[in-house]
Amino acid sequence: MRFYLTTAIDYVNSRPHLGTAYEKITADVIARYKRLSGIDTHFLMGNDEHSQNVYRRALEQGLDPAAYCDQMEQQFRAVWAQLDISFDDFIRTTEPRHRTAVQKLAQVCFDKGDIYEGLYEGWYCVSCEAFKQEKDLVDGKCPLHPTLVPEWIREKNYFFRLSRYRDALLEHFRANPTFLQPDVRRNEMQRLLEGGLEDISVSRAGQLWGIPLPFAPDNVVYVWFDALINYAAAVGYGTDERRFAEWWPANLHVVGKDITRFHTIVWPAMLMSAGLPLPKQVFGHGWVHFGGQRMSKSLGTSLDPSDVAERFGPDPLRLYLVKEISYGSDGDFTWDRYEERYNVDLANNLGNLVSRVAAMAEKYRGLQLQPAGTGGRLAELATTALARYQASMDGLALHGGAAAAFQLVDATNEYIAETAPWTLARRAADASRLDEVLFTAAEAVRIAAVLLRPIMPASAAEVLRRVGDRTPLDALRLDRDGRWRADGTKQIVKGPPLWPRVEEKEMTVEQPAPTTPAEEPRITIDEFMKVDLRVAKVLEAEAIPKSKKLLKLKVDTGRDQRTIVAGIAEAYQPEQLVGRTIVIVANLQPAKLMGVESNGMVLAGSTDAGQPILVGFDQEIPPGARVR
Ligand code: MSP
Repeated sequence: MRFYLTTAIDYVNSRPHLGTAYEKITADVIARYKRLSGIDTHFLMGNDEHSQNVYRRALEQGLDPAAYCDQMEQQFRAVWAQLDISFDDFIRTTEPRHRTAVQKLAQVCFDKGDIYEGLYEGWYCVSCEAFKQEKDLVDGKCPLHPTLVPEWIREKNYFFRLSRYRDALLEHFRANPTFLQPDVRRNEMQRLLEGGLEDISVSRAGQLWGIPLPFAPDNVVYVWFDALINYAAAVGYGTDERRFAEWWPANLHVVGKDITRFHTIVWPAMLMSAGLPLPKQVFGHGWVHFGGQRMSKSLGTSLDPSDVAERFGPDPLRLYLVKEISYGSDGDFTWDRYEERYNVDLANNLGNLVSRVAAMAEKYRGLQLQPAGTGGRLAELATTALARYQASMDGLALHGGAAAAFQLVDATNEYIAETAPWTLARRAADASRLDEVLFTAAEAVRIAAVLLRPIMPASAAEVLRRVGDRTPLDALRLDRDGRWRADGTKQIVKGPPLWPRVEEKEMTVEQPAPTTPAEEPRITIDEFMKVDLRVAKVLEAEAIPKSKKLLKLKVDTGRDQRTIVAGIAEAYQPEQLVGRTIVIVANLQPAKLMGVESNGMVLAGSTDAGQPILVGFDQEIPPGARVR
């Protein structure tokens, strides 16, 4: 059996944030679950590079767009590696294999008479990379990007006959109730189809950044028409037809709820036009908010997944996102909730269980547990947990899968409390009962770890090692290793606590302190963490003509190079600053000062006389390090 799974490919105009990472983590859990189930899985991710925003960001940094995209690829790959994302292939839309596929599919649709020339006139939101109708705008702005003025576009375009496929799409939705999940999204799309479809523009005139239309090379393919084809390109469409026949259609596209229309209406219509089979399923997951707010770089409410993964490692983050958010619904991340769940699920529950089993195995049986008994009620519960886990995971209720694994962890903790091995250890007559209890508890932990392996890969591997399981990780199979095993000695391994408890006082987040009227209102740590303070290095500095106070700096932030205008000209000469390490606010909205766009703020103390003194460090520290 085969399973071809994809995620949305990301725009590379900024680094991944926790929302984009959420999608990749959940898709990774699905991919790992399929592999654990013995299914030959192909998991694709990638970067969407032909976006105008990407092009603009590259130019802003004085970089060739291709070189900029190369740099960003490294950053994305580093974050995905840090989060333990196990993709099998990573596609970039600037690769030749993708270009070939896009040109082929566009030509096929053109030859079919589904692409025609027309005049496009209307609004375009560059951040959405989407044409907007007047009725979609709020106060003349795109509701998703209120800081940006949409552009009015009037140009000769090529259009795709989307309207021609409306009936076939509607029929496909009706005949395949699980084509789009969850149901709320399916209903939304069905209503949209019932309301009728208009043809869509699929090219942009006079642009340089993109793939030329094969039949009209002065036009580049519209970024969405281009991007969707990545799913076919990656498995050989246009370059390796045998491979394509093996892997296409995709079994599952995992995408965010904002882009389900592109995936369940536009993409299927393109495939129908090209005579290709449709993907089996699209899952439109919800949004992850940060402290109740939409995550957005431009609003300064974005959270870097690397920062979160640095706190306790990637697995607690993966668990939080999978277990705490019902898959398909929106969810929220706050530091205090995160630390609370870490303590409850990992430190106090699973971590404590693993430590107790090892401590008792050592104390009573020199770390060797002989098979004894059948596992009784706990074994039955493990069987139920496995069934619930599989049903949930197969139905993409990933949160249900996590809950089923933890049901077994809870039950094992209760089992230990009820059987009280420390009491059994006191009487020689209870020796065989003690054997049974210790073996049973360790076996239940082993099964819980197998179930958790897709969600917390490295941690599950460590738990398996501690309970003496020697199966090579790639050879683990749910239908064999997820079942109760009453044979084989368990050589238990002791180790330091897997997830030391965070004490209230070291929590990143304390509850907001009550303020008396005399005190200044305090802010929460979540509010503070919204400010992205970073170490940066000054590369160039120059005076701004006609300004007494302002200097124009070019700084290296470790992730990009950008211009910042700083009001320090009265205290510093430009040449004193070059090479210096400073601290900047990296996520400030851009502002124009004396005609120069500033992308951040330099931190400095201010003397009573108002003289700025730059914030610095007493040791070398590389650009990009977070300051907090
Ligand atoms: N490039 C397009 C997708 C093309 S797919 C052929 C795109 N890129 S994106 O970078 O803006 O978003 C990538 C994915 O992250 C999308 O599925 C999007 O829905 C998802 N998310 C973006 N912000 C998110 C949250 N705050 N929460 C969860 N998912 C979010 O769209």
